[in-house]
Amino acid sequence: MSDIEDPKTIECPPNTLTRRDLIKRVIVGGVAVSSASYLFRASTLLRQSAPGTGERLLTINVNGQQRRADVMKQETLAWTLRHKLGLTGTKLGCDRAECGSCTVLIDGVPHYSCSVLTHTVRDRKVLTIEGLASSDGTLHPVQQGVIDEQGFQCAFCMPGFIMAAVAFLKTNPNPTRSELAQGLSGNLCRCQDYDKILTAMMRGAENMRRARRV
Ligand code: FES
Ligand code: FES
Repeated sequence: MSDIEDPKTIECPPNTLTRRDLIKRVIVGGVAVSSASYLFRASTLLRQSAPGTGERLLTINVNGQQRRADVMKQETLAWTLRHKLGLTGTKLGCDRAECGSCTVLIDGVPHYSCSVLTHTVRDRKVLTIEGLASSDGTLHPVQQGVIDEQGFQCAFCMPGFIMAAVAFLKTNPNPTRSELAQGLSGNLCRCQDYDKILTAMMRGAENMRRARRV
């Protein structure tokens, strides 16, 4: 069940969850962050039926696994990931290609999944925030950079920033702060926590370089 279908699942007992715990949960699976208006909008949409839009069984490669889902022809990848495959780490902010919250990698290239039709990724490899950590639970160096620097406030935008940074750092592993800012300029943070985000992403870049050396 997704966090949208049952808002109770995102509630945490008071005084049992530290900020560090919260950030780690979002980094790994993006399960802890949402907002009331977002929940309302999504739950309303979930109940809508689309007349004349039949679903079709589709198999897509997500995080190295072949996943099957009934997908409407006009369905976006973000919708399929969140509501058909339960991968709620990918966030929906604007739902119109402006904020970058929904960024995933398709064949290693960052895309706004709110603006990609699921049917177009049938023969491609999709990577979401849930697929970044190693199978033994070791965080990706960029995820670890966020832990190291505590780089976000509400962290709603964090999965998108991390996915965009992972892709950018493959092309430029040793960026200046200004180059990294430019590389992440397709992602917006409503908390406007850009300075801390950049510091965390720079730490992620450093972690990646160090991981390559060992
Ligand atoms: S939700 Fe896709 S770009 Fe904002
Ligand atoms: S930290 Fe809140 S939206 Fe970015």
